[in-house]
Amino acid sequence: MNDWKVICRVEDIPVLGARRVARPRGMDVAVFRNDQDQVFALLDRCPHKGGPLSQGIVFGTSVACPLHNWTIGLDDGCAKGPDEGCTTRFACKVQDGQVLLDPVELATLATDVEPPRAGPCAGGGALGDASHDVQAPHG
Ligand code: FES
Repeated sequence: MNDWKVICRVEDIPVLGARRVARPRGMDVAVFRNDQDQVFALLDRCPHKGGPLSQGIVFGTSVACPLHNWTIGLDDGCAKGPDEGCTTRFACKVQDGQVLLDPVELATLATDVEPPRAGPCAGGGALGDASHDVQAPHG
């Protein structure tokens, strides 16, 4: 059993939005909150063309990718049919109002997956601090 790493408080994540968690290696992890205060964690990379899922709109237990509107399941990271493909899911739990992730998974899962090299997703990534917020777009 691994120790869990405290990431933030649930209320630090915008309702129906996400917060990105930077990692020493690999792309950010997006931690989502829905309107039931359920929290989920996925690699911040759409299985279609790498769109930033942290900037998508959360509804129910899914997120709509901001690039081409694929629907990705927050509980499994997989695209809803007819689309196909999955992004990496990270273990996540809430304890006493705090969001926790598994530090071993943060250090080892999908560290070789690269961000898109061109287009609207290029140039994203860590800002240097441990974590940073991203607001879901409006409208
Ligand atoms: S990159 Fe997410 S739907 Fe195309």
